Amino acid sequence: MKLLSLSSLGIAAVSVYAASTNTTVSTAGLQSTACVSSSDNSNLYTTVSEVKHAQLFSIDYHNTYKIVNNLSTNSTYVLYQCGSTKPSINNASAFIEIPVKDSAAWSTSAAVFIETLGVQNTLRNLGTAPSMVSACLQALLQNIIDPFNESNSTATDEQEDANDVVFNMPGGEDTNTTNTVYSVEYLESSALGRAEWVKFFAAFFNAEERANKLFGAIESNYNCYAAKADQEYNDIRPVIAWTSYAAPTEYNNNTAYWQISYADYKYVIVRDAGARMLNTTGPQATIFNTAQSFLDALEDVDILIDESFVSYDYNTLLKNYGITDPSKLDYSWLTTSRVFRPDRIQSTSGGLGWFEEPIIFADALLEDLIGVAHPKFVQDGYTPIWFRNLAKNETVVVLTASNCTDIYAQLPDSAQQCSSLDFQSANPSDADYSGVEVNQTQDLIYDLSDSEVINGSDNEGGSHTDSSTHSSSSDAPASLFAQSKASAVAMVAALAALLFMAN
Ligand SMILES: *[C@@H]1O[C@H](CO)[C@@H](O)[C@H](O)[C@H]1NC(C)=O
Ligand SMILES: *[C@@H]1O[C@H](CO)[C@@H](O)[C@H](O)[C@H]1NC(C)=O
Ligand SMILES: *[C@@H]1O[C@H](CO)[C@@H](O)[C@H](O)[C@H]1NC(C)=O
Ligand SMILES: *[C@@H]1O[C@H](CO)[C@@H](O)[C@H](O)[C@H]1NC(C)=O
Ligand SMILES: *[C@@H]1O[C@H](CO)[C@@H](O)[C@H](O)[C@H]1NC(C)=O
Ligand SMILES: *[C@@H]1O[C@H](CO)[C@@H](O)[C@H](O)[C@H]1NC(C)=O
Ligand SMILES: *[C@@H]1O[C@H](CO)[C@@H](O)[C@H](O)[C@H]1NC(C)=O
Ligand SMILES: *[C@@H]1O[C@H](CO)[C@@H](O)[C@H](O)[C@H]1NC(C)=O
Ligand SMILES: *[C@@H]1O[C@H](CO)[C@@H](O)[C@H](O)[C@H]1NC(C)=O
Ligand SMILES: *[C@@H]1O[C@H](CO)[C@@H](O)[C@H](O)[C@H]1NC(C)=O
Ligand SMILES: *[C@@H]1O[C@H](CO)[C@@H](O)[C@H](O)[C@H]1NC(C)=O
Ligand SMILES: *[C@@H]1O[C@H](CO)[C@@H](O)[C@H](O)[C@H]1NC(C)=O
Repeated sequence: MKLLSLSSLGIAAVSVYAASTNTTVSTAGLQSTACVSSSDNSNLYTTVSEVKHAQLFSIDYHNTYKIVNNLSTNSTYVLYQCGSTKPSINNASAFIEIPVKDSAAWSTSAAVFIETLGVQNTLRNLGTAPSMVSACLQALLQNIIDPFNESNSTATDEQEDANDVVFNMPGGEDTNTTNTVYSVEYLESSALGRAEWVKFFAAFFNAEERANKLFGAIESNYNCYAAKADQEYNDIRPVIAWTSYAAPTEYNNNTAYWQISYADYKYVIVRDAGARMLNTTGPQATIFNTAQSFLDALEDVDILIDESFVSYDYNTLLKNYGITDPSKLDYSWLTTSRVFRPDRIQSTSGGLGWFEEPIIFADALLEDLIGVAHPKFVQDGYTPIWFRNLAKNETVVVLTASNCTDIYAQLPDSAQQCSSLDFQSANPSDADYSGVEVNQTQDLIYDLSDSEVINGSDNEGGSHTDSSTHSSSSDAPASLFAQSKASAVAMVAALAALLFMAN
C-alpha cells in the first residue's frame, strides 16, 4: 500500500526525495474545511471567485452549495458542503461533496492546477505517470500515491469510485464514473482564460481565496508584461509561426503532412509579446500536402516554433521540413537560427513541462515568449524556461522527484516580477532583429491560394485531419497514464497532437 497517511509520512518517505523535503500541509487560505450539520443553512462561501477571462465555465454560489456550469453544453456540476442536505437539482451531471478530500486526475494540467492550489495532499491516483514533469508530483507518484491500474478496468473503476472526484478531459479514459468532472482549459481562447481555470479547480476544495490571490497576481503581472512589450516593441514585431510535422503513420494513410497552428490563445499571447502571428487565408485547419508548399508559407517568418510530437535535433527538423541546404534559403528564421521547440523542460521519459506550468502561469509564458521575440528585453539577455533554441543546439533540462523540496507546497510561479524589470528598447540593427520588418503591427497573412493544401475546419478537418484528430482526441488523454517509457513518449506525442489541433 503506497498510500500513506500524513502522520505516517516519516523518515522512509522523506529519504526518497530531497533530504530537506518539507511534508507539512498548510490550510491557510482554505475556507469551510469542516462539515456542517444538515440543518445549517448559513452562507458558507463568503469568498467567491468571479470569472472574467475564461469563457467555458461559470460558478454560481449558494449558501451551502455551488453550481459549476459548462457553458458549451449547459451541463452542471453540483458541489455541496459535506454534511449539508444534497440540493435537489435535477439536471446535474455530478454531485460532489466538498471540500474534496480524495481526488484523482487523468490529465497533467489538472494535476498541476491542484498542485498550484497546494491541495495535492488530496490526490490519491494520478493517471499521468510517467509523463508528469512537476518534480513534486513525480515525488508523490513515486512514493505516496498510486497510478491508475490501466491494465485492469475493474481495478481502475474501483480506484476512481474511492475518490470524491476524478478530473478528466472529454474523450479521456474511463470517464464513465459518476464522479468524473471534465475540464477544458486547453480550449480557452486566451492565456489568461486558460489560467483562470484555477478558479474552477479551487471551487472543489473551497480554495477560492488561494485561487483569487494566485490568479490576481498572474493577471496583473501578465498585463504589466503586455503593456511594457507594447510600449517598447510596437514598431518591431517579429513574425512567429507555430508549426508541426507529422511523420507517416497508420493514422494518416502513411502520408506525411505539415501544419501551422492557429490556436486562438497563441494569437493573443504572440501579439501581447510584441510580435506578430503568421496567419493564412482560408479555413483555420490547413494541412500542407508537400514540404515545399509548407516552406513557401514560412518565407517571411522570423521565428519558428516547432511543436512536432517527436523530439528531435535540428538536422532532423531540417530533413522533416524538406530542407537539404539551409544556406540556399534566405528565410530569416533559418539565417538567424531562431528555431525553437517548447520542450526545454522534460521528465526522464520525455513528458513535456510545456503541458503543465505554462497553462496556469500565463505571465511566465508571456515572459518566455517576449524572451523569444526580444531576447535582450532585460539587460543581460533572457533564457526562456520552456522554449529551447534547436538551431543553437540548446539542451533539455530534466526534472526528477529529487528536484522536489516541499511536496505539499503551492507550486510557485516562475515568472519574474515585471514591475521591477527595466525593459530595454529594441535596436533594429541588432542581429536579433535581422530580417524583421519594422513598423508592421498587423499579423502577417499568407495567401494560400496557390498552395497544395487540404482545408478543414477546426478539429474535424479534411481527410488527413479526420484520421489524426480522431486518433488523438480519443486516444490522447488515455496516453497520460501510459506506464512504459516507450509508450509514454508516443502517448505524450498523441496528447501534443490533441492540444495542437484542438485549439
Ligand atoms: C513547511 O511548509 C509549511 C506549510 O507550507 C510552512 O509553513 C513551513 O514554514 C515549511 N517549513 C520549512 C522548514 O520550510
Ligand atoms: C445554454 O443556455 C443558454 C441560456 O440559458 C442558451 O442560450 C443556450 O442555447 C444553451 N445552450 C445549449 C447548448 O443548450
Ligand atoms: C441546469 O440547472 C442550472 C441551475 O438550475 C441552470 O443554471 C442550468 O442552465 C440548467 N441546465 C440546463 C441544461 O437546463
Ligand atoms: C493491476 O492489475 C493487474 C492485472 O489485474 C494486477 O496484476 C496488478 O497487481 C494490479 N496492480 C495494482 C497496483 O493494483
Ligand atoms: C482486476 O481487479 C479486480 C479488482 O481489484 C480483481 O478482483 C481482479 O482479480 C483483477 N483481475 C485480474 C485479471 O487481475
Ligand atoms: C467503464 O468503462 C470501462 C471501459 O473503458 C469498462 O470496462 C467498465 O466496466 C466501465 N465501468 C462501469 C462502471 O461502467
Ligand atoms: C462541456 O461539454 C463539452 C461537450 O460535452 C465537453 O467537451 C466539455 O469538456 C465540457 N466542459 C466541462 C467543463 O465540463
Ligand atoms: C491512401 O494512400 C494511397 C496511396 O497513396 C491512395 O491510393 C489512397 O487513395 C489513400 N487513401 C485515402 C483514404 O486517402
Ligand atoms: C486570420 O486571417 C483570416 C483571413 O484573413 C481571418 O479571417 C481571420 O480572422 C484571422 N484570424 C485571426 C485570429 O486574426
Ligand atoms: C549543432 O549540432 C550539429 C550536429 O552535431 C552541428 O553540425 C552544428 O554545427 C551545431 N550547431 C551549433 C550552432 O552549434
Ligand atoms: C534538479 O536536480 C538535479 C540533481 O540534483 C540538479 O542538478 C538540477 O540542477 C535540478 N534542476 C533544477 C531545474 O532545479
Ligand atoms: C517607423 O515609424 C516611426 C514612427 O512613426 C518613424 O519615425 C520611422 O521612420 C519609421 N521607420 C520606417 C523604417 O519606416
